[in-house]
Amino acid sequence: MTAVSAASAAYIVAGLLFILSLAGLSKHETAKAGNAYGIAGMALALAATVGVVAEDISAIGLTLLVVAVVVGAAIGIWRARVVEMTGMPELIALLHSFVGLAAVLVGWNGYLSVEGADGGSSLTGAEAGIHSGEVVIGVFIGAVTFTGSIVAFLKLSARIKSNPLMLPGRNWLNLGALALFAVLTVVFVVEPNLLVLSVVTALALALGWHLVASIGGGDMPVVVSMLNSYSGWAAAASGFLLGNDLLIITGALVGSSGAYLSYIMCKAMNRSFLSVIAGGFGNEGGAASSDVDYGEHTEIGADEVAELLRDAETVVITPGYGMAVAQAQGAVADLTRKLADRGVDVRFGIHPVAGRLPGHMNVLLAEAKVPYDVVLEMDEINDDLAATSVVLVIGANDTVNPAAAEDPSSPIAGMPVLRVWEAERVVVFKRSMNTGYAGVQNPLFFRENSRMLFGDARERVEDILRAL
Ligand code: TAP
Repeated sequence: MTAVSAASAAYIVAGLLFILSLAGLSKHETAKAGNAYGIAGMALALAATVGVVAEDISAIGLTLLVVAVVVGAAIGIWRARVVEMTGMPELIALLHSFVGLAAVLVGWNGYLSVEGADGGSSLTGAEAGIHSGEVVIGVFIGAVTFTGSIVAFLKLSARIKSNPLMLPGRNWLNLGALALFAVLTVVFVVEPNLLVLSVVTALALALGWHLVASIGGGDMPVVVSMLNSYSGWAAAASGFLLGNDLLIITGALVGSSGAYLSYIMCKAMNRSFLSVIAGGFGNEGGAASSDVDYGEHTEIGADEVAELLRDAETVVITPGYGMAVAQAQGAVADLTRKLADRGVDVRFGIHPVAGRLPGHMNVLLAEAKVPYDVVLEMDEINDDLAATSVVLVIGANDTVNPAAAEDPSSPIAGMPVLRVWEAERVVVFKRSMNTGYAGVQNPLFFRENSRMLFGDARERVEDILRAL
């Protein structure tokens, strides 16, 4: 068996392992096995690819390849070990940008090595046309993914503001860029040349930047899964160029699963899928406003909260990003057990985009060994909130904002939220009156039945535990 046919067999096995991996990752009970399948598939794919490439390249080339793999693996292992759970989304966004950049480089390399910088193509007829099409489409998707992911990284790590960039006529800018790309693709296929490829690259870099910059804070979860999907299509485009079937299969798996996740998240957030992938198309809502006067807020101390909880019949805890920052899940789990021991009915209400990752809160609560059966989704608990004695909002903000339900001019209008304000008493754990991720003020804090418990969420929960 030649190295190439051995590699083809290995690619089929790796492709199957990736499918098993995706299936495993769709449920938390099987997620670990899913991860293991993914690792095995990727190790096999890498080994097979290096085996095929090693046949045709010099010893120096092979050494460089091995060094690149070792250095890349070392950096990857180091980053994955040190990253905080709260830093995962931005790390993922950064990794997507690498896929985009790789697709741009593969495209440029495809052009330079086949058509040659002097324009003399080694391919003829339909083959040359198909090759040029692959180059220009691969470079376009890759460049959009590259800058889009960098903006997402900057927004998620709070290095730039998460507010949407509202350029005048921004939808026309996006549509114009797409139309120009279509024209340039035809020009490039007819007459491949360096200038057109450079213009397409610059256009796609600008479009990627603009698409993600136009999307507001509250819609960022959808953007991250959308960029995940784009990075898959970029990899698939590279697979066509390199004639690598596994890259095409893997790219298509990532592309379609990312698109499906974006669709699910859009449904959960009551957003139109098309509007988000088109860079906030049709979302002309005002910029985040934090200057409306909602009146005074009322503070409460940990001892008083302990008192409230002692007298409560039913308690619902709605955690958010602040619980992850404070690493309060362990203390929250202790509080749950203590209250349950006293006969209080304690449950959790989880918003689909609470935190910064899909399933962020579920992972933290599972880690703290909170039983699954008391952890309910938003839709399962919303109707029970009106009959709840006390709701503890632990480091959540946008996901419990009544403005989303009641103020059509709010930037998060229409996003489904946990209706915590319907409960008899609401206690909000946070450090200040600052806004949440979307940069929108929260009228909940000023409601008559709301009390603010300021400070680090973990310390405050521990204070309550002591008082109990
Ligand atoms: P946010 O609206 O982000 O609010 C978190 C709150 O936690 C902040 O208001 C902050 O207030 C408080 N906080 C931070 N550190 C704290 C600490 N140590 N102790 C106590 N409180 C602390 O959270 P959310 O309700 O979970 O909403 C998530 C937001 O992120 C949504 O807008 C969502 O669209 C967006 N997003 C979600 C995802 C996914 S997939 N889940 C991805 C990207 C973006 P202080 O500063 O006053 O303490």
